[in-house]
Amino acid sequence: MPANIINGKEIASAIKLAIAEELKKIKTDTGREAGLAVVLVGDDPASIVYVRNKKKACQEVGIRSSEYRLPKETSQDALLKLIASLNKNPEIHGILVQLPLPPHIQTDKIIEATNPDKDVDGFHPVNVGKLVANTASLISCTPLAIITLLDKSGIPIEGRKVVIVGRSNIVGKPAALLFLHRNATVTICHSRTKNLSDYTLRADILVAAIGKPAFVKADMIKKGAVVIDVGINRDEAGLIGDVDFPSAKEKVSYITPVPGGVGPMTIAMLMKNTLTAFKQQQIDNGII
Ligand code: GUN
Repeated sequence: MPANIINGKEIASAIKLAIAEELKKIKTDTGREAGLAVVLVGDDPASIVYVRNKKKACQEVGIRSSEYRLPKETSQDALLKLIASLNKNPEIHGILVQLPLPPHIQTDKIIEATNPDKDVDGFHPVNVGKLVANTASLISCTPLAIITLLDKSGIPIEGRKVVIVGRSNIVGKPAALLFLHRNATVTICHSRTKNLSDYTLRADILVAAIGKPAFVKADMIKKGAVVIDVGINRDEAGLIGDVDFPSAKEKVSYITPVPGGVGPMTIAMLMKNTLTAFKQQQIDNGII
C-alpha cells in the first residue's frame, strides 16, 4: 500500500484562512490589528528565507509585521534594548527573534527578556513551565505543527508509541510534552542513544528532528508507522528532510514530505500564536 502523503501546505492554508477571517472580524468589531515584530540579527541565509516566509504569511492573514534587521555585530545590550522597547509597544503583540543568534549574544538572556505574553515562539521559561504543567497558551510552533498535522489527518495519538529523535528545546523536548499530554507513550532519542533502531523500529509515530539529511532509512521504520519529518537540510538538489523519503514512503502509512510538510505548518502555528497573544492582550487591556 502506498503511503498517504500528509499535505502540510494545504492544511496550513486552511488554518491561515480561518485565522485571516478571525482577524478580519476583530478589525471590523474593534478597529484593532495584530502586530508581530520579527527580529533578525546577521545574515544567515536560511534565517533570511525563514523570516521572509514568516512575513509573507503575516501579509496573507492580515497581521502587521515589522522587521528589525540588525547587523551581525550588534551587541547583546543593543538587542536587549530593542526587546525592551518592543515589550512596551502596545501595537506589537508578538515578538519573534529568529534563531540562531550570533555567538557573542546569549540566546537565553534574549529569550528571558521577552515579555512572556508576547513570546509567540513559546520559548520563554514561563511558557515552557506552563507547557510542562499543561496550561500553556503559547507553545513552540514546530511541535504544535506536528500535533496539528496528525489531528487534521485523523491520526490517533492516545495510547500510541511515539519515538522522537532529537532533544532540542525548540522541537524534541516540547514535542515530547505535547504527546505526553495527549496520552501517548513517549521516548526521546538523541545523538548518544545506542542502537537507535531498537527504538525507532517500535514507533507507531516516529518524529525525526535530527538535522542530518536522509538519516532515517526505511530499515529503521516499522511497517505501517506514521513518520513526521522535521528536518530541513539543504543540498545541491534543494531541500531534503531527515528521512530517506523515497524508501520510507514504501513502508509507512503516513509521511510528511520535505518541503511541504512540517515547514508550512510551523509558520501557520506562528500566525495562530500571534492571534492568541493578540486576543489575550486585548482582553487584558479591557479592549474586548
Ligand atoms: N530558528 C529555527 N526554528 C526557529 C523557530 O521556531 N523560531 C525562531 N525564532 N527561530 C528559529
